[in-house]
Amino acid sequence: MAEKLWGGRFETGPSEVFERFSGSLHFDKRLIGADVRGSQAFARELERAGILTAGERATLVTAFDEILAASREPGFYVGASDEDVHTLVIRKLKEKTPLADKIHTGRSRNEQVSLDTRLWLRGEIDRTLDLLAGLLDALLDLARRHPNAVIPGYTHLRRAQAVPWPHYILAYFEMFARDRERFEQARRRVDVLPLGSGALAGSGFPFDRRSIAADLDFEDITRNSMDVSADRDFALDYLYAASVTMVHLSRLAEDWIVYSTDEFGWLELADGVTSGSSLMPQKKNPDSLELIRGKCGRVIGSLNSLLITMKGLPLTYNRDMQEDKEPLFDAVDQVQMSLEMAAVVAASVTLREAVPAAAAADGWVVATDLAEALARAGVPFHYGHKLVGRLVLESVRAGKKPTDWTPESLAAFAPEFSPDMAALLRPEEGMKTRNLPGGAGPEAVRTALEEAARRLDSMRR
Ligand code: ARG
Repeated sequence: MAEKLWGGRFETGPSEVFERFSGSLHFDKRLIGADVRGSQAFARELERAGILTAGERATLVTAFDEILAASREPGFYVGASDEDVHTLVIRKLKEKTPLADKIHTGRSRNEQVSLDTRLWLRGEIDRTLDLLAGLLDALLDLARRHPNAVIPGYTHLRRAQAVPWPHYILAYFEMFARDRERFEQARRRVDVLPLGSGALAGSGFPFDRRSIAADLDFEDITRNSMDVSADRDFALDYLYAASVTMVHLSRLAEDWIVYSTDEFGWLELADGVTSGSSLMPQKKNPDSLELIRGKCGRVIGSLNSLLITMKGLPLTYNRDMQEDKEPLFDAVDQVQMSLEMAAVVAASVTLREAVPAAAAADGWVVATDLAEALARAGVPFHYGHKLVGRLVLESVRAGKKPTDWTPESLAAFAPEFSPDMAALLRPEEGMKTRNLPGGAGPEAVRTALEEAARRLDSMRR
């Protein structure tokens, strides 16, 4: 049993079961880099506060560096029975220097665990932001590979109105661009220094919290020590942003699983992101997309897990809060891997342009265009809507496609249809009426595509 940071008050040590039950080293060792960095900054503050001499501070900072380097070697954790990563680091420090006994002066693990998690999570958010930018880039590329393709847009998974392929892809661009904003907002709440809060009541030493914040590159300092010990909102903010991102990824995955079926047949997924069947030789399954969809549930589960952990905890710290880490770590892993995977799938996708074009041509996605043309010609919209509805009904009965109608047969069906309206029976024509900002008109989409590229550039700057 490794030595505790709190053994003095106890006559016997913890039971073996309690040690196994409560220990967190096997997962919170992920925070060792942050723990060392935070402790080094704290050592510098202890020097400013007169607790350590410059020489002592230097000895400790070097010892921390050595511990971090050693932690990257195999075997570092073998046999370690420390309660958590913070305890392990201090034990290793004690093996190097008796000065280790001074490092925890005026510091609590309650603030240390908040500090470490914030430092670590800040770096992971930056990586998540980069991965999102990578996906946005892959999506723009995919839009540009088929600039003039036309697909039916869906509501209720029934053909609704025709849109340019880039317009469909840019819908996802918007979702993932908002996801980036959500992660940036989460980052601002993570980027606040908790150190100086003590266990819950503030430290008993006159630390210059602003200078520790500057040392660790934090934007701000926390304003209430009790809040620090009790708060995991910053982790929840990340988990919410991660969950929304996963929902967007999952919907993209679902779209492309459907669009790449034999029944739809629009999309070809590359061999590199699909798998076969051990029994059925013909199969090419979209496993990469299915796993993205599957991991979405897992990340939402992590958000729920922490919300439920926090609900009803009395102020301030409670050991329940140690349960924040596994869901947080797992969500970070799953969202990052999913973003990476989605970008690779996007880069591998080819649109068989003729298939959705035919689906758009056959599917009466032009009906709204006709109804709106009638309205533009002065026919009250509800009446025009009814006329076109009857035209569709008649076509369905007679097995007619939109382009089977001529200007003459249209006018014969109803005199409200002027000869020029027959042009609208082709989806490409009606789309041209939708060139307002945000619309699916080809001009509007070209502008949106250029704008999206500029926005991605400024996100990356
Ligand atoms: N391993 C603990 C956690 O993650 C560190 C804080 C321990 N503090 C305490 N009062 N037991 O929450």
